Amino acid sequence: MAVYPVADEKDLPVGSFRIVQIEGRSIGIYNVKGDYYAIHNHCPHQGAELCKGPVCGTTLNSFVYEYTYGRDQEILRCPWHGWEFDLKTGKSLFSDKVRARTYLIEVNQGIIHIVIGKKEEITYETNR
Ligand code: FES
Repeated sequence: MAVYPVADEKDLPVGSFRIVQIEGRSIGIYNVKGDYYAIHNHCPHQGAELCKGPVCGTTLNSFVYEYTYGRDQEILRCPWHGWEFDLKTGKSLFSDKVRARTYLIEVNQGIIHIVIGKKEEITYETNR
């Protein structure tokens, strides 16, 4: 497991995101209502740059002819064909079997870090 610093907390305010390159992967780091999430910038449908899509909410379970909007700023919509993913889990909204890869985030002394790999071995990288 390697832990990479990716941003200062002050540079990623609520509702913002940035795309970083780590170990050859493109990863979006999002501040969703004060919590940070990381998602692979690759749509599992046909490989679009997922993080170039809008962050939005979705229609919650509701009765016929009722449309209740919720989960604002928690959903990432692919820019190509509109598949929607939960930023917190990477799961698509239409199937538990379809998901975008997510990564762990750690915050240490105001610095946001992304965790890559398995937990057996820890190395701290210093490059940004
Ligand atoms: S490539 Fe993302 S929905 Fe098609």
